[in-house]
Amino acid sequence: MSNPSNGNDRFNAEAAAWDSNPDVHRASSLALKSILEQSPKLCEYRNGKTSVGLDVLEIGCGTGLLSFMVSPYVRSLTAVDSASGMIAALNLKLAQRPSITNVFPVCAMLEDPDDARIQVSRTTTPAALPMRFDLVLSHLVLHHIPSLPAVLATMHGTLKRGTGWVALTDFEDFGPEARKFHPESKMAGVERHGIARAEMERLLADAGFVDVQVREAFKMDKEVERVPGGGKGEGVMMEFPFLICMGRRP
Ligand SMILES: C[S@@+](CC[C@H](N)C(=O)[O-])C[C@H]1O[C@@H](n2cnc3c(N)ncnc32)[C@H](O)[C@@H]1O
Repeated sequence: MSNPSNGNDRFNAEAAAWDSNPDVHRASSLALKSILEQSPKLCEYRNGKTSVGLDVLEIGCGTGLLSFMVSPYVRSLTAVDSASGMIAALNLKLAQRPSITNVFPVCAMLEDPDDARIQVSRTTTPAALPMRFDLVLSHLVLHHIPSLPAVLATMHGTLKRGTGWVALTDFEDFGPEARKFHPESKMAGVERHGIARAEMERLLADAGFVDVQVREAFKMDKEVERVPGGGKGEGVMMEFPFLICMGRRP
């Protein structure tokens, strides 16, 4: 049975050292590239070709690796994570980078699109509340979510009608070997060993998304345990495919 607190305990414990793992930086860089390929608007804003920037919600931002990478391309980035340790680490990094003023960290297990805690962007006037987003991101998070239908319904509700869309990246469940993505000591809070293409297509459509596309985003090499539970450090590398899951709120 799933126990969400296991996940939070694990991520609170890992937060301070999270950024010392090169894999998570690499995965975020590759996710950014794949997201930018899907939305010319992001680069147009970055290059000053348009003054219309997107308001983005990131669910499961961790220490903000992807959030910081995305922030120059968007008007605002509301960065949500349920682990207080992760948000504390993100706040510390933001305090060290005062030039970044469009990232808004929120510690929350988001279940309600109208949750007051995400009404934080300084770019929205009170009359426009509740805030609705142009884009919802989530990277390396879906495999930790106990109920995918519930989180997709929440994401759907946070988006602007007609134009708001999701771009969700996570490693693919390509069969039993996908379990090796995590060392056996880090299975707390792992709800599934990756996401499956057909299932994600169906779940996005069931949640009310249109223009659904689930495709390979990138491949990433990662060191894995030779023997389950044996620990890493034996130089065994494995390639993991990542998917990007997209859909628009009609
Ligand atoms: C594997 S980490 C990825 C963090 C970050 N995206 C990165 O790539 O460095 C998964 C994160 O999702 C967060 N998380 C899991 N379920 C969540 C939920 N329902 N709402 C918000 N955050 C969640 C965890 O606390 C954790 O920080």
